[in-house]
Amino acid sequence: MFWLIGGIVILFVIWKLFFEEENPLDHLPGPKKWPIVGCAFSLLGTPYDDLFSTMLEFPKKYGYRYVLKIFSRRILHVYNVDDFEIILTHSRNITKNRPYDFLEPWLGAGLLISTGSKWHRRRKTLTPTFHFNILRNFSKVFEEKSRDLVHKLKNMPEGNVDVLSVIGDFTLYTICETAMGTQLDCDSSTSAVEYKDTIKNMGTQVISRLTKFWLHPDLLFYQTSLGKQFARNLVTAHSFADNVIAERKKRIDQEGSLVKNLEDTTKDNSKRRLALLDLLIEAESNGEIDVEGIREEVNTFMFEGHDTTAMALSFGLMLLADHEDVQERIFEECKAIFGNSDRTPSWSDLAEMKYLEATIKEILRLYPSVPFIGREITEDFMLGDILVKKGVEVLVHIYDMQRRADLYPDPEAFQPERFLNGEVRHPYAFVPFSAGPRNCIGQKFAMQEMKCALSEICRNFTLVAAERGARPKLKADIVLRPVHPIYVKFIPRSRD
Ligand code: HEM
Repeated sequence: MFWLIGGIVILFVIWKLFFEEENPLDHLPGPKKWPIVGCAFSLLGTPYDDLFSTMLEFPKKYGYRYVLKIFSRRILHVYNVDDFEIILTHSRNITKNRPYDFLEPWLGAGLLISTGSKWHRRRKTLTPTFHFNILRNFSKVFEEKSRDLVHKLKNMPEGNVDVLSVIGDFTLYTICETAMGTQLDCDSSTSAVEYKDTIKNMGTQVISRLTKFWLHPDLLFYQTSLGKQFARNLVTAHSFADNVIAERKKRIDQEGSLVKNLEDTTKDNSKRRLALLDLLIEAESNGEIDVEGIREEVNTFMFEGHDTTAMALSFGLMLLADHEDVQERIFEECKAIFGNSDRTPSWSDLAEMKYLEATIKEILRLYPSVPFIGREITEDFMLGDILVKKGVEVLVHIYDMQRRADLYPDPEAFQPERFLNGEVRHPYAFVPFSAGPRNCIGQKFAMQEMKCALSEICRNFTLVAAERGARPKLKADIVLRPVHPIYVKFIPRSRD
């Protein structure tokens, strides 16, 4: 056995040294490459919490296009808007890179991670689901959950609030009701409580695995306590979603489909409300998706639809707490729309909140919830003058690009006005929702939800930073997170 393994290693080394095909990317800058291993050891030993800040130094050292070669894996990192445009608009290089594989047991081949013709079919089926006219049906949920959030904040003990935990509940409850029609906040059954914890834990477990290369093979991972916990969570998440889907179908059989009669669900007194799930069930009856597909998409919406908005809102509250002038302008904008009324915002009120919209864009410029996007190249293509060959992975660094001083004067400053005065000129200089065929299908949904929550908060509170001017250390997994909690004081304000 020893001889066999030794022989394989020697053959591998000979192949690497003498026969491995040269790749044009090998001429690009990057950390020092050693024979065989490449730069596999350049980040080894960097604690996970320091990885993001360490990587921020790389473009300063190696420029806006560099390569990390790990054994025979080449990862091309790009930071130029022109490169973003070429990569994100490529119609065939749409396959996600390897880290997404660890989400597969949970999300299956749903819209986020599928590729090729399966992704094309799904995208076609799901695009109408996120049409503005459909989203209008969710306005009542956004309003109610925002009102509950304000109520919760008003009833919290005076002092600093850990915003991530409060906002995390808000976005989870919102997506759960809009995607599945289930009110997690009103459901104290064991399965609902378990589901809530599961959804919150699974992302962290996926990331824990991602950062420990020895846990990558399934065979090892599922033997560890982390792997066993993950497997238990999978059962909880899948059986909860399966039950909700079955119940919803039963109700549609008994009472008819809401999709055929959309107008009714927007009315205040309508007892039944539309959920994204209803549209998936309708698509099933038209033969466009099967039951497994419905489950994949429900899980995908739950995953993509809560952490992303939670992080944007939390970083947003932190920035607002530091900028009273911005809070005041939002408050004044709301006053012009609502007068002294305390009604919650309607769909058309939200459309009028232009300054708030610019503020949310500026939040997403500084803290894009998805800080980078990965692709596995399946077809050779030219990136300017460089041939990028099949098999390479590409990382598109949204966070870093959106803080480039040549694109944004005084890039670290929080200035919502940038998005009102035409400062943002290049169409790919602002891409928190990505761009091209694989852009975020939920972006309008997310913008409406965030507008609703932030306008309600600014109408009801003055925000005060726990530590003025402090900016959190960041880490990135699938979303951008602060390493430590963000604290903000919410001081109730009068409406005058
Ligand atoms: C602030 C909020 C959000 C941000 C910043 C955001 C950002 C993104 C980005 C950058 C991508 C592309 C990922 C990639 O190419 O790897 C993406 C994809 C996606 N997002 Fe969002 N997202 C947000 C909210 C949402 C919400 C609320 C939903 C669902 C209700 C959603 C559903 C999806 C789905 C299904 C995809 C995959 C689309 C495809 O590949 O065809 N997102 N999002």
